[in-house]
Amino acid sequence: MSQDLAPLYAQHIATLRVRADKALALGGFDHLLIAASTPLRKFLDDQDYPFVASPHFRHWLPLTDTPGSWVVYTPGHKPKLIFVQPRDYWHVVPAVPSGYWVDQFEISIVRTAAEAVAALPKDNTAVIAPDCPPIDGLDVNNPQPLVDYLHWHRSYKTPYELALMRQASVIGARAHRAAEQAFRAGESEFGIHMAYLAAARQIDAELPYANIVGLNEHGAVLHYTHFDRVAPAQSRSFLIDAGASAAGYASDITRTYAAQGHSEFQALIDSVEQAQLGFVAKVMAGQSYPELHIHAHHMLAEVLREHGVLRMSAQSAVQSGVTATFFPHGLGHPIGLQVHDVAGFQASETGGSIARPEGHPYLRMTRALEPGMVVTIEPGLYFIDMLLEELRTRPEAKDIDWAKVDTFRPYGGIRIEDDVVCTHGEPENLTRDAFALLK
Ligand code: GLY
Ligand code: MN
Ligand code: MN
Repeated sequence: MSQDLAPLYAQHIATLRVRADKALALGGFDHLLIAASTPLRKFLDDQDYPFVASPHFRHWLPLTDTPGSWVVYTPGHKPKLIFVQPRDYWHVVPAVPSGYWVDQFEISIVRTAAEAVAALPKDNTAVIAPDCPPIDGLDVNNPQPLVDYLHWHRSYKTPYELALMRQASVIGARAHRAAEQAFRAGESEFGIHMAYLAAARQIDAELPYANIVGLNEHGAVLHYTHFDRVAPAQSRSFLIDAGASAAGYASDITRTYAAQGHSEFQALIDSVEQAQLGFVAKVMAGQSYPELHIHAHHMLAEVLREHGVLRMSAQSAVQSGVTATFFPHGLGHPIGLQVHDVAGFQASETGGSIARPEGHPYLRMTRALEPGMVVTIEPGLYFIDMLLEELRTRPEAKDIDWAKVDTFRPYGGIRIEDDVVCTHGEPENLTRDAFALLK
């Protein structure tokens, strides 16, 4: 945590420069221009949506709140930052650049986004920026071969990036502890969410994604972000999927809890957790991620059999698609600057796409794991009325113990999610390590 970031950052920038040199050469470009981007205006309003800096910009700089600024990179030259510091007494303006990163950049301060654009080189440039809103005087081209190359290499995190992801994990773990306490104290979903934010010391807009905080049956809604203001009469179970940010890097953590006395559901959580740890242990170089996902289906079928939900073999549960009723999402995804990070399907540094296995439409990662990649491992088991109703109409329904299903429905579901680094040896579990640091 207290690692000195300056040397790691210098090494990170050296790596990004090598990558940018190659990417620019692919398209024969002289300069790479990367926009922080500008906030999006709400329709017929004078308000903006919360600003999220472009992930490409955040790859170069730990700056998340500098709209209108640009990185300019020309091979053979120190990267430049065109830093917008408006003359503005309505808003907080970005502070004068300082910190471990400034030595790596030539910094030029301007007052407006238009001045920043005016200061950019214009000839033979690759411009990485959102297409909308348009930028006056600039041709935003986002050249595909260049973007493919950069996205592919973003899969391999530098030691600097891993240091920030460890920080994001520690913040998330601390906030998860506070959320668990709030659940045990009988708080509402809204109250738990507030306890989470307070412990993370981050506001909603700073989080890498909207918190999922579900009590009881709400755990069955995969992306439940409703936040009931009133606590239920009885809180039986709690599913929280919530992350945190560190200098633009994400963590993505899910835990599921049973209230005291709900031992049958606790036993199911324990089995999913044991299976999850088994999948984490397989985050090794060369492991095909889609094969790990299919393996997870088999192991979760075994869990459902052990707990009396299924009577068929694990094999036939997977083949007939029954496990997809209970585990209807992917095992996980790449994570980094974006919670669902880029290049999960990419075939090579020149682009292309690796298809998902048939019958698994929600898997977000089809590549084999390599050292430096960070992925989530997030198996789940859910009791989702809509999917259960469909299953009831199928021939396999006779091999389901529906009374057992009914005993679990009031608990919603289970998901357990860790962020895991593939290394040259054993996996590094950022999430478990972060929770261990709190003890
Ligand atoms: N929190 C979204 C996900 O787990 O992918
Ligand atoms: Mn996730
Ligand atoms: Mn998640």
